[in-house]
Amino acid sequence: MNTIIINGADDEAFSDAAKALREGKLVAFPTETVYGLGADALNQDAVKRIYEAKGRPSDNPLIVHIAEVYKLKELVAEIPETAALLIEAFWPGPLTMVFKKSNLVPDIITAGLDTVAVRMPASPIAQRLIKEAGVPVAAPSANISGRPSPTTSKHVIDDLNGRIEYIINGGPCQVGVESTVLDVTTDIPVVLRPGGVTLEMLEKVLGKVDTDPALEIKGDKKPRSPGMKYRHYSPKAEMFLISGESDSIVKKINNLIKESSRQGLKVGVLTSRENAHKYSADVIVNAGSVKHAEQIATGLYDSLRTFDEKKVDIIYSETFEEKGIGRAIMNRLKKASSGKIIEADKEK
Ligand code: TXA
Ligand code: MG
Repeated sequence: MNTIIINGADDEAFSDAAKALREGKLVAFPTETVYGLGADALNQDAVKRIYEAKGRPSDNPLIVHIAEVYKLKELVAEIPETAALLIEAFWPGPLTMVFKKSNLVPDIITAGLDTVAVRMPASPIAQRLIKEAGVPVAAPSANISGRPSPTTSKHVIDDLNGRIEYIINGGPCQVGVESTVLDVTTDIPVVLRPGGVTLEMLEKVLGKVDTDPALEIKGDKKPRSPGMKYRHYSPKAEMFLISGESDSIVKKINNLIKESSRQGLKVGVLTSRENAHKYSADVIVNAGSVKHAEQIATGLYDSLRTFDEKKVDIIYSETFEEKGIGRAIMNRLKKASSGKIIEADKEK
């Protein structure tokens, strides 16, 4: 298949892409979090093709994207009071809410669950596409399943060129990690995936908010967000996270670099700007300053993809503070490393 790559500012091409979406074709588009792979959410054949193009397991449900709040009504059975408050505070934006679904939503979207995840993206290109297509848009991240999510059109092209009809280029995504997924079907809403809207921001509006215990990587609980159970967001090389005090982390990573180099492995390190000069490894990726965690989030997936491009054999990554957007960053790093964490302070 020939994938047509268009510029988000090219009006004529844009209308063609919106029309294609309405006609059951697949269109990748930028949102403020990551690029999405869109299809008409009410067209089962189109949605089926999303799973095929991504190689996505069929038990992992999709988020439905809308551009106007009133469209939510037809997709869900009820809108709880908590959700109304959050819509007011955070839509459009990087917050996905899980509602009891209406009969309109096909099973293929929800992977048979009786709930549906809905989000209203803030990106003007996403909004315009959804409005012009005139249909609710199912959109997972526009990557091959398991790989780091795409935050530039180049990432999308690398993964999906030749597999989908359109890619809309809208430049790099601002947030860089996916939306927060929040279950609002319970009295106290539950975070199923940390993301662009932080726990602290949610608590400011709602008071109490719970977190799915299965998000703790070492727990044996089944996550309530099916997508959270897979190895995910992963570069091709094996990845280890090193936790502890900053000084011990540096020392430990330097020891690991030596060990792996001795074995003839090409070593990558993911580091904060503060520590970047303290390592000598084959590939050092500076994720940004710990003082600006938002910037680390923005470039996170590009950092992970860099290791693939440079074909490293093994990656050692620093860990980041789990507050604010740092929770999403660490959640993705834990998934990318399949939870392989080395505690630096234990063995000095
Ligand atoms: O920022 C985002 O959310 C991006 C952009 C494109 O909007 N989309 C995205 O979609 O990250 P995806 O498919 O990569 O992740 C959707 C997550 C998965 O973890 C999935 O299991 C969860 O949402 N999810 C979807 N429907 C659900 C439901 N009914 N109940 C619980 N979790 C659900
Ligand atoms: Mg994804």
